[in-house]
Amino acid sequence: MALFPEAWMDELLSKNDIASVVAEYVELTPKGRRLWGCCPFHSEKTPSFSVSADKQMYYCFGCHAGGGVVQFIKEMEKLNYPEAVAFLARRVNMELPSEINDEQLRRERALKERLYNACRDAAMFYHKQLMGDNGVKAREYLAKRGIDRAAVTRFGIGYAPEGWEDLKKHMLEKGYREDELISAGLAVKGKSGRVYDAYRARVIFPIIAANERVVAFGARTMIADETPKYINTGDTPIYSKRANLYAINLLKGKKIDDIIMVEGYMDAIRLHSAGIDNAVASLGTALTAKQAKLIKRYVSKVFIAYDGDSAGRNATLRGLDILAAEGIDVKVITIPDDMDPDDFVKKYGAEAFLKLKDSARTLEMFKLDFMSQSYDLMTDDGREKYAESACNYIAKLKPVIQRRYCKYVAEKTGISLEAIVKQCELDSKDDNANSFALTRNNRDKKSPSELSEREKCELTILACALMGKDVFVRIRKHPDFSVENVFVNDDIKGCYKAIAECYERGETPNIGAILAAMPGDEQMLTPALIEQESITDGYVTAADCIERITVIDLKNKLQSVANGMKNASGDKRMRLSDEYAALIKELKQRNKS
Ligand code: GTP
Ligand code: MN
Repeated sequence: MALFPEAWMDELLSKNDIASVVAEYVELTPKGRRLWGCCPFHSEKTPSFSVSADKQMYYCFGCHAGGGVVQFIKEMEKLNYPEAVAFLARRVNMELPSEINDEQLRRERALKERLYNACRDAAMFYHKQLMGDNGVKAREYLAKRGIDRAAVTRFGIGYAPEGWEDLKKHMLEKGYREDELISAGLAVKGKSGRVYDAYRARVIFPIIAANERVVAFGARTMIADETPKYINTGDTPIYSKRANLYAINLLKGKKIDDIIMVEGYMDAIRLHSAGIDNAVASLGTALTAKQAKLIKRYVSKVFIAYDGDSAGRNATLRGLDILAAEGIDVKVITIPDDMDPDDFVKKYGAEAFLKLKDSARTLEMFKLDFMSQSYDLMTDDGREKYAESACNYIAKLKPVIQRRYCKYVAEKTGISLEAIVKQCELDSKDDNANSFALTRNNRDKKSPSELSEREKCELTILACALMGKDVFVRIRKHPDFSVENVFVNDDIKGCYKAIAECYERGETPNIGAILAAMPGDEQMLTPALIEQESITDGYVTAADCIERITVIDLKNKLQSVANGMKNASGDKRMRLSDEYAALIKELKQRNKS
């Protein structure tokens, strides 16, 4: 579990006091034992978001978001655990443990830092060019395409002048080296060995990563029918196109329910300019699992709005599966008449686009429609063959949604609903494997409200144990308590063991460190810690939870013995029935006391 050395983590946490970290994002006011502010994770007008400095944790009484300082940065900056820890290390100028003794890693990091800076400086150069005397034609081009000044600023759009070395000269003056410019994709080396600017006489769209740093560029020609239309930065030490999305930097800090995925720079810019500010672009390449994972940090629902042409439809099909495999709920917005979202919004406006979004097709409908393109639905034969393969697909869907799609196919083919349903039943017998592969959502962490009654009791016991060594010692002596019997949730058990070790060493457990050591799910402990504040006697509360856990386990056992008895006979049945009677007796006694 420990990704970072304990002592290093302790130093990191002591330097990153949660109140000061949160204060950089949320305005906090002290009241009682806590600091209060408006929750950054859900919309609200009266503050229900709190920070407790003594526990080094935050908790929102409105949306139940909670955790320690690492969790806060994970949620706020949309980072995974090691990235969030690295973020906090950078915040207080600490080197990562891996860097401290590794000269190679240090050099790589220093190089990357220079490339990030080079891209930022280049973007500023291009933007200045666009706004200056050299940029007249480019400004005209953008105006003609309906990109206004606000969009130019928001997206940092620029212009690469015609010359071969304008950027290079500027950057060398700023102290960058030629090899760094090449590394960052800003310059290329010709056959003769001459180094020249990679983008010339083009409109420049900087690609800004989720960490808000410029990492790459798209460069569009202003000449109709010139190829290539776009020149995009290839992979560099700071940029992988398979792991990035255009405009992802604009999503941070917004409370959005879903993301609209488009193909091109212009599509994303148009939607944002029209007030639809949850669009990102996958930039022409096929969507990857890495991009899907990136999206998952923001939302669990995506609308794909690719171009209406057949290339767009094929890309949609691939994208759907990749997103669904990450457990994302996907829908498809269909743009009519071979238009792209840019053309459509320019012509009909944002309202009309949002109507298309409202009538977006589900993944299943899209697939069923896509499938039908291979058949001639004007003939009986074509309709029947289509219905057959459609049913084969429907049979693999979750049973609860099958009827809806049976209806869909019945309407599409004119074949009776009964016949379609029957066909699906036949098909489901053939093949039960991977039935939920498309929609299974296996990476969602449990939110506190999804925890079982038993797990909630386990958490409360943990919170009581954290109240002090005397309570902890009394809990441990409880006749029904043992670590293995009481804790079945591995995360909670791990936490308990960490706490126990602390007490045994004669230390007071550091709640901040315990939260940070729960990379999977630290938010599940926070409600218990909040509850702890209203507990008057920690031992009595813990004992009550231990009793409840014992009863839950007895009842489960009773159930499984009862099930066993149904199929057993002879000796075995006798034995089980004795066991059953003993369990009933014990339960009765426990209920009395
Ligand atoms: P506009 O014509 O400016 O509206 O572009 P678009 O956004 O409609 O582009 P299109 O649908 O043609 O392509 C979608 C995306 O694919 C673009 O945003 C680019 O990222 C990429 N792309 C398009 N053309 C080229 C090209 O010629 N070369 C490369 N490498 N990428 C391209
Ligand atoms: Mn376009």
